[in-house]
Amino acid sequence: MKGEQLESVVYASNMGSYEQACKRFQWEDVESHFTWSRTGKVNMAHEAIDRHVYEGRGHKTALLYCDGQREESYTFMQLCMESNRFGNVLRKYNVAKGERVFVFMPRSPELIIALLGILKVGAVAGPLFEAFMETAVKDRLEDSGAVAIVTTPELLSRIPRDELPELKHVFVVRDSSQLAGDVIDFKAEMEQASYEFEPEWLDREDGLIIHYTSGSTGKPKGVYHVQNAMIQHYYTGKVVLDLREDDIYWCTADPGWVTGTSYGIFAPWLNGATNVIRGGRFSPENWYRTIERYQVTVWYSAPTAFRMLMGANEEILEKYDLSSLRHVLSVGEPLNPEVVRWGWKAYGQRIHDTWWMTETGGQLICNYPEMAIKPGSMGKPLPGIEAAILDDEGNVLPPNQMGNLAIRTGWPSMMRKIWNNPAKYDEYFRFSGWYVSGDSAYMDEDGYFWFQGRIDDVINSSGERIGPFEVESKLVEHPAVAEAGVIGKPDPMRGEIIKAFIALREGYEPSEELKEEIYRFVRGGLSAHAAPREIEFKDKLPKTRSGKIMRRVLKAWELELPTGDLSTIED
Ligand code: WT7
Repeated sequence: MKGEQLESVVYASNMGSYEQACKRFQWEDVESHFTWSRTGKVNMAHEAIDRHVYEGRGHKTALLYCDGQREESYTFMQLCMESNRFGNVLRKYNVAKGERVFVFMPRSPELIIALLGILKVGAVAGPLFEAFMETAVKDRLEDSGAVAIVTTPELLSRIPRDELPELKHVFVVRDSSQLAGDVIDFKAEMEQASYEFEPEWLDREDGLIIHYTSGSTGKPKGVYHVQNAMIQHYYTGKVVLDLREDDIYWCTADPGWVTGTSYGIFAPWLNGATNVIRGGRFSPENWYRTIERYQVTVWYSAPTAFRMLMGANEEILEKYDLSSLRHVLSVGEPLNPEVVRWGWKAYGQRIHDTWWMTETGGQLICNYPEMAIKPGSMGKPLPGIEAAILDDEGNVLPPNQMGNLAIRTGWPSMMRKIWNNPAKYDEYFRFSGWYVSGDSAYMDEDGYFWFQGRIDDVINSSGERIGPFEVESKLVEHPAVAEAGVIGKPDPMRGEIIKAFIALREGYEPSEELKEEIYRFVRGGLSAHAAPREIEFKDKLPKTRSGKIMRRVLKAWELELPTGDLSTIED
């Protein structure tokens, strides 16, 4: 094997040898672990929670929650009963199988209980990140035709109910006695609801969850996943997270993003692990305290967080005992080799990079516990997954050539549609038999994959995916903005930050105050993570003859690179 590498730690992982696992792998073997292999019918909440109760693990701790104010723990039995109650509440309001029900609130036990209850009635869950503001919330609820939402009093004003005729029920968690009469008091309903509940029994192709994510054009896309995804969640929880019976597992992602559901809820509980959920904000001290307090053994986080921890002062590391850690993983953006080397020194742990996307529903290319790590590589395809690099005609390229990262179709957790947008869905499958990811990469001669960048204009800031179009649409709503083009600007901490190029309307002059005002306008309308941290005013923006802003040229300006072929430019 070539190049720098961190040797595998020799211990018996759940996978054993990678080569052997690839050879003997069968999806049918994974499926046989589910109770549906006996009944034919399925429900994610049953498999992840209730099954452990029936199999004698009801008193095991399922959830350890803390946020600096609250600290609570729940057994599988308690989560089973509480989510049964919410299932009954939803049935009382006639929420039916297949309908979309959203959760829009900060991380909390109520969020988890609500989400499980939604799954139990067979509804499709729609998690919304708490930082979303009115326009972002409205776009998502409207597109999906959501019938109900569970939220908190603080977030209620961001749900424009008079513009959402299909939204029938709004459940408010915590004290809702002060609120208008047409919202439903979550707590009061729960207190009256029975613990007895028969989940909706579903087919494997029935809906599970919708995550909205961004592309380079158009509004956010509703990526629709089905129950069948649990095969992948269970399996990757076993062989990539390497979960065992006694593990205390912590995924730092919020359930508003796919990592926070696939790997913050489904994978750990399908494997019966004890799951830590931490609310509140990031700080190195809070995070290390969480690992020490709960004796976290398996930890799944993201490059921006690791970079921030690397940037924190050395003494913090010495203050906390992190020796419980056995396995550390990362996802969401490129993991710098120096961060991998630092992790090896700081934690005595190899940080295992994993690659996947909202659309793929689960991990696909990973560094496994038993593999030697080449710092900077995303690893190798999961046994059962075929990955390749394709040229722009769909031909498979040989090793060491950069091209389109693609996956052979047919893995269990692949999205089943883009809600309301079959044309967008079809774009991913333009080469017969392949899912085309939108990432560029190459594979080396040892079969390791190396991320190179996005092929489209999608921005990745702190692991959060942002569509330039959504930001541009918001920017041009501002009275001073005539035209706007948005790009990702490289940033050492966040990977990329959002930069907007803006041409002003007549009568407006560039100023620092105006930049600040425009920034706050996007922040208040869309969300903090979508607001441009940098703004540059230009007299004119480069456009194609058909009037499309050429982000490629903006990016070249920013990076002081040649602007490339300008034959389609306006003038
Ligand atoms: C995009 C997907 C599902 C994970 C959370 C993000 C980038 C993801 C890696 C990695 C380099 C990565 C890709 C991908 N990405 N993991 N290990 N190394 N880049 O999910 O919001 O759907 O974003 O994140 O560009 O396409 P997402």
